[in-house]
Amino acid sequence: MLPSTRYLARALVGRLELQSDELVVEFGPGTGPMTAVIRELLPPRAKYVGIELETKFHTLLVKRFPTMTFHLGSAGDLPAILREHGLPKAMRIISGLPFASLPAKVQDAVVNGVVECLHPAGDFRTFQYMHAYGMAKARRFRSLMDERFASFERIGPILRNMPPAYVLRYWARRDA
Ligand SMILES: C[S@@+](CC[C@H](N)C(=O)[O-])C[C@H]1O[C@@H](n2cnc3c(N)ncnc32)[C@H](O)[C@@H]1O
Repeated sequence: MLPSTRYLARALVGRLELQSDELVVEFGPGTGPMTAVIRELLPPRAKYVGIELETKFHTLLVKRFPTMTFHLGSAGDLPAILREHGLPKAMRIISGLPFASLPAKVQDAVVNGVVECLHPAGDFRTFQYMHAYGMAKARRFRSLMDERFASFERIGPILRNMPPAYVLRYWARRDA
């Protein structure tokens, strides 16, 4: 897949509206198109950690964004990663993970970690490509999220991305 365009990055990141010391987590930053927008919008004392599975992307991110923190590992280990870095619950979780191709076990770990680590007033944002929106794993991910979160919005499709994609936003945990 090509890196996301700035149009999709801006739609996904939206307005961060963070206070000092509040945390934004990014899953799967890749080459950093979403990270660049987050960096522009991040208030000076807000916190950021990007979690990237691939060593080559992690190395590139550390070089491209020297003032930001990147963890080499899986988004499925979010609770342990936040503990390791001494970070609070996240006010924003912004995901570039390809849920339409992630195995069920990884989807489950990611969703459980998000539910555990998202601040009660926070939200989770991700995107899904239009052509993959109806695929079984993409639908599975959305139904897992629907079970755990009471509020959902879909933005788009964002056509100025290759491929075009929807932005999805979830908030208000059902069991909170
Ligand atoms: C579709 S790319 C998106 C990259 C970038 N955010 C963008 O929009 O161009 C998916 C990214 O997620 C990373 N990734 C896949 N599985 C992951 C996991 N379990 N934990 C963290 N990153 C993961 C991949 O290495 C890749 O960088």
